[in-house]
Amino acid sequence: MVVLGNEKGGTGKSTIAMHMAVAFANAGGRVGVIDLDVRQKSVSRYIENRIATVARTDVLLPVPTVYEMAGDTVEELAELTMTAMREQDLVIIDTPGSATELSRAGHVFADTLVTPLNDSFIDLDVLGRVEPETHKVLHPSHYSELVWDTRKERARVGRAPLRWFVLRNRLSHVDARNKRAMEEAIAALAQRVGFVSVTGLGERVIYRELFLTGLTLLDVRTPGVAIDLSVSHIAARQELRALFNGVGFTDIIPGG
Ligand SMILES: Nc1ncnc2c1ncn2[C@@H]1O[C@H](COP(=O)(O)OP(=O)(O)OP(=O)(O)O)[C@@H](O)[C@H]1O
Ligand SMILES: [Mg+2]
Repeated sequence: MVVLGNEKGGTGKSTIAMHMAVAFANAGGRVGVIDLDVRQKSVSRYIENRIATVARTDVLLPVPTVYEMAGDTVEELAELTMTAMREQDLVIIDTPGSATELSRAGHVFADTLVTPLNDSFIDLDVLGRVEPETHKVLHPSHYSELVWDTRKERARVGRAPLRWFVLRNRLSHVDARNKRAMEEAIAALAQRVGFVSVTGLGERVIYRELFLTGLTLLDVRTPGVAIDLSVSHIAARQELRALFNGVGFTDIIPGG
C-alpha cells in the first residue's frame, strides 16, 4: 500500500497518485484508490473523468477502483484499507495538503510513502530547516516529525518499517543554481531523517491538460486515445518510469 503525502499543498500528490494507479492498471494489476482529500477529491474526480471518457468513446481503458469513505473515522479507514488490500494488488492512498487525523492514519497503514516537493526551498522547509548560506540542514521540521511519529506508531503495532521516498516535482529546465542547491540540501536531509531521494518530474503542461479527460501519459499508446506522442511526452514517460522504478515498481511502464 502506497500513500502520497506532504503537508504542503499543490506539490503533485494527486497527479502522481493517478499516474501510478493507471501505470499499474495498464500493466494488468488490480488497483484500488482511497482519496482522503475529502474537500478537493482530485484523484476521485480524475477517475470519474476517466470513466466518462470510456463511456463516451468506447476506448478500452483500465480504471482503478475507488474506495469511498462513508464517514470520517480512523476505524472506518482501517476497515476500508483491509477490504481494498484483500481485493486489489496495489492500494494507493491520496492525502490532502494538510495534517488531518485521517491523513496521519493513512501514513500509518501504508508501507510506502511517496512525498513530492516543488523544487523550492519553501517546499523543503516542511521537511527540514536549512541554513541559508551553507544549505546545511539545521533540524527536521514538522512533516519529517510526523513521519517520525508514524514510524514509531508502526513499530509499536508491529508493522514493517515505512519506506519513504521523496521526489522533486515541476523541475525547471533553466534554474540550474537552485536545482543544485536543492539537490545538496535534499541529500543531506535524506540522511538525517531517513528517506530515499528518487528521480523527479519536469514541469510539463501535459499534466494539467489531461485531467478533464481522465487520461494520463500512460495511455498515449492505447488504440483510440488521441494524444500525440511528442518529444516532451516521451521524456515525461521516461521520468515517470524512473520514478516508479525508484519506488520499487519496476517495468510497469513499457519503454519508449
Ligand atoms: N510535473 C508537473 N508539471 C506541470 N504541472 C504539474 C506537474 N505536477 C502537477 N502539476 C499541476 O500542479 C497542480 C497541483 O498538482 P496536484 O493537484 O497533483 O497537487 P497536490 O499535491 O495533490 O495538491 P493538494 O495538496 O492541493 O491536494 C495541478 O494543477 C497539476 O496539474
Ligand atoms: Mg491533491
